[in-house]
Amino acid sequence: MKFVVTAGPTREALDPVRFISNRSSGKMGYAIAEAALAAGHQVNLISGPATIEPPKGARFLAITTSDELHRAVHRAVRDCDVLVMCAAVSDFKPANSASRKLKKQNAPFTLEFVPTRDILVSLSHESRNYFVVGFAAETHDLEKNAMQKLRKKNCDMIVANDVSKADSGMESDENAVSIFCRNGESRKISRAPKKNIARELVKIISKMSEKCLTKKS
Ligand code: CTP
Repeated sequence: MKFVVTAGPTREALDPVRFISNRSSGKMGYAIAEAALAAGHQVNLISGPATIEPPKGARFLAITTSDELHRAVHRAVRDCDVLVMCAAVSDFKPANSASRKLKKQNAPFTLEFVPTRDILVSLSHESRNYFVVGFAAETHDLEKNAMQKLRKKNCDMIVANDVSKADSGMESDENAVSIFCRNGESRKISRAPKKNIARELVKIISKMSEKCLTKKS
């Protein structure tokens, strides 16, 4: 199958030297790309700035901003069987990005932010012929929030992780996830290295997507 995997954070520029971003390391997305390759799938990895090496064998595209990721995802899904949206996309960006460095000010100041586009929501879902896996980064009400995202973002499956703990989730080498599917099935994968979680996820995604895509064709 053809997998498109997005990973890492996005960066939204405030000026030529400053940006707003998040703590995503890209480790979970890269581990999923690696596990999908190991399982014999083709992988198109689209990544925000990350400090780790992309797995060998993946087609790799580096992006920086949420708008670049939006364009890259829309292009990539024209020819894919599975989209895994693991990227931690910025939800807002500065209303204006200064072309010159903002100078130091000795008084409090306010910056204006505007929402970015939601990439998952923007993908058309009526005649879709690929399987969509979203991620949900939550600090509280994990199941309730993940289920809401599953529906609102038209995902076939959502992988929820608790990002409030320092020893799993963002930046860590380990994770623990709860998986919720559109067909009502759910699964938990308890705390383990991200590479192990990724192998398990790829197995589940392959099985579920085959079932779902066969039904549609
Ligand atoms: N996502 C997206 N476009 C955005 C923001 C998020 O496609 N502009 C995707 C992420 O890649 C992920 C899913 O939506 O697969 C959920 O992301 P998450 O950060 O958990 O949720 P948000 O939609 O940002 O909502 P909130 O920050 O309120 O939890």
